[in-house]
Amino acid sequence: MRRSPVNGLRAPRSSAGALLALAASLMLGVPSANAQPLPQFAKDKHLGVPTCSGSTCHGATKPFKDSPVLQNEFVTWHKEDPHSNAYKVLLEDDSKRIARNLGLKEPAHKADICLDCHADNVPASKRGNRFQMADGVNCEACHGGAERWLGPHIAENDHKKNVELGLYPTEDPMARAELCLSCHFGTKDKFVTHRIMGAGHPRMSFELDTFTATQPAHYEVDKDYRKRKNVWSGVQTWAIGQTIAANMFLETLADPKMHKSGIFPELVFFDCHACHHKMKDKRWVPGKSSGMGPGVVRLNDANLLMLEHIAKRTNPDLANQLGIAVKALHRATGKGMDQVGAAAKSLISINKQIAKAVNGKRFSDDDMKAIIGGLLADATKGEYQDFSDAEQAYMAVQAVLVALENSGGISAKSAEGAYDALDGVFKSLEDDEDFKPNVFRDKMKLVQSRVGL
Ligand code: HEC
Ligand code: HEC
Ligand code: HEC
Ligand code: HEC
Repeated sequence: MRRSPVNGLRAPRSSAGALLALAASLMLGVPSANAQPLPQFAKDKHLGVPTCSGSTCHGATKPFKDSPVLQNEFVTWHKEDPHSNAYKVLLEDDSKRIARNLGLKEPAHKADICLDCHADNVPASKRGNRFQMADGVNCEACHGGAERWLGPHIAENDHKKNVELGLYPTEDPMARAELCLSCHFGTKDKFVTHRIMGAGHPRMSFELDTFTATQPAHYEVDKDYRKRKNVWSGVQTWAIGQTIAANMFLETLADPKMHKSGIFPELVFFDCHACHHKMKDKRWVPGKSSGMGPGVVRLNDANLLMLEHIAKRTNPDLANQLGIAVKALHRATGKGMDQVGAAAKSLISINKQIAKAVNGKRFSDDDMKAIIGGLLADATKGEYQDFSDAEQAYMAVQAVLVALENSGGISAKSAEGAYDALDGVFKSLEDDEDFKPNVFRDKMKLVQSRVGL
């Protein structure tokens, strides 16, 4: 019915290339522990897209030559970015059907349960005169209500000051992860439950570095940008994205309010294809991560598995603790939700320590080689049997490979060969309904030999 979630998520080969890596190595800043509330829940008024899209502001038809920013951001967003279409999706037949199946009292495009992620659904009192819900995921849904920073940022653009006045720090990997994942995974305030999926909502997947690269960029990471903002390598973005995604998964999993649908817990936390795959596909094999026997519903542990590879390079002792705690979490699903909650909480505290170690770390070429080597070793051993694990592993290998190429840690020629092989992996993930773990494993073997580590 719908394109695959990883469709189009090809190698995000940074145009900034080696320059970006050089900038990263010179940078002193540390991503902040994000203190800023998400734009939807902050106090500032959202003034609306026309406030940003004047032709001398961000609505130029072509990039400005002598300006620090491109100034045609509106056109890129409007024409190429799916976020400008997010509200319109709610008017289509698929959405009508979802709303009908859920028995919503209002149509999808009027229901908060949909608008919360498909538009900039701030309360009516926080909508300026030019605000229009139909603009979908608009500028201020990501950059924060412009009430206080609009004037000052036109008069004299000082990024730090803008942030103090409510501009959301989208350049900061941690803040960005929290922002994107609030819609691409969900929070306790807005969430696509299995009931909503059952009504027809597509499965969701996310990886910060890959999705940052596939969202059509309306900004350019050039010399001027680097003067104004901290720039992080893709491996940092990937790693931070994993710690935040794991945290959001564990926090919501541990929240008893998320599990109120009868005798079953909320099913969205489990691997979709643990239940939804053909019975004639006899593919179960023992895996080291879950330690679970056949015939049980496995949690979706994709982010936790990625985290292990990160922890191995930041703090090997924590990586061991993590491995043990992930197994304990899996086992807890066979006992009860109280046990799951407790196991999730101990993982949250381990993850906090990993996040602390990752925050501000400069991953060296050796770090990246070890991470990619570890991912490929697990992939070629057949550890990623579940689709969501395989999909995350693919995006991880790609993200780290690009970062490694950008830093000069792998030759352009080896990288080229590996990207070709990754195309084969991508094909094995194109249809999640027809995922064959063995094909994925074999395609990863080719990547492994091409990377040559
Ligand atoms: C927690 C946030 C969230 C909520 C709540 C939510 N959605 Fe979505 N929805 C998304 C995201 C993110 C995507 C894109 C998924 C992807 O492509 O990875 C999406 C995709 C879709 C799509 C497919 C769009 C396409 O281009 O094919 C439809 C249809 C849809 N949503 C309808 C709805 C409806 C109707 C509701 C309310 C019942 C709803 N959504 C609630 C986040 C949400
Ligand atoms: C889905 C989230 C999202 C939406 C929607 C969005 N942006 Fe952005 N924007 C980003 C991210 C991520 C960056 C890159 C990180 C950064 O520099 O903050 C960025 C960067 C920018 C920059 C900074 C460029 C620089 O060189 O410093 C401008 C200006 C900008 N966006 C304007 C807009 C305008 C105008 C709109 C609406 C037409 C818009 N954005 C919509 C996420 C978004
Ligand atoms: C307010 C909610 C919201 C926020 C915040 C948000 N997104 Fe989205 N995003 C969506 C929805 C809804 C869609 C699906 C739109 C559609 O299909 O028309 C989407 C689609 C996308 C897609 C296309 C996915 C596909 O399957 O083709 C990418 C890439 C993406 N978002 C990246 C990001 C990134 C990166 C950020 C953070 C900088 C972000 N998004 C922040 C709601 C959001
Ligand atoms: C514990 C098993 C289990 C897990 C895990 C699970 N589901 Fe389901 N799902 C079901 C059952 C049972 C139904 C109801 C089947 C029916 O109505 O025929 C269902 C129904 C659905 C439907 C509706 C199918 C229809 O016939 O219209 C969709 C779509 C769906 N699930 C998606 C998902 C997604 C996406 C995930 C992962 C995020 C997921 N499911 C995880 C058991 C599961």
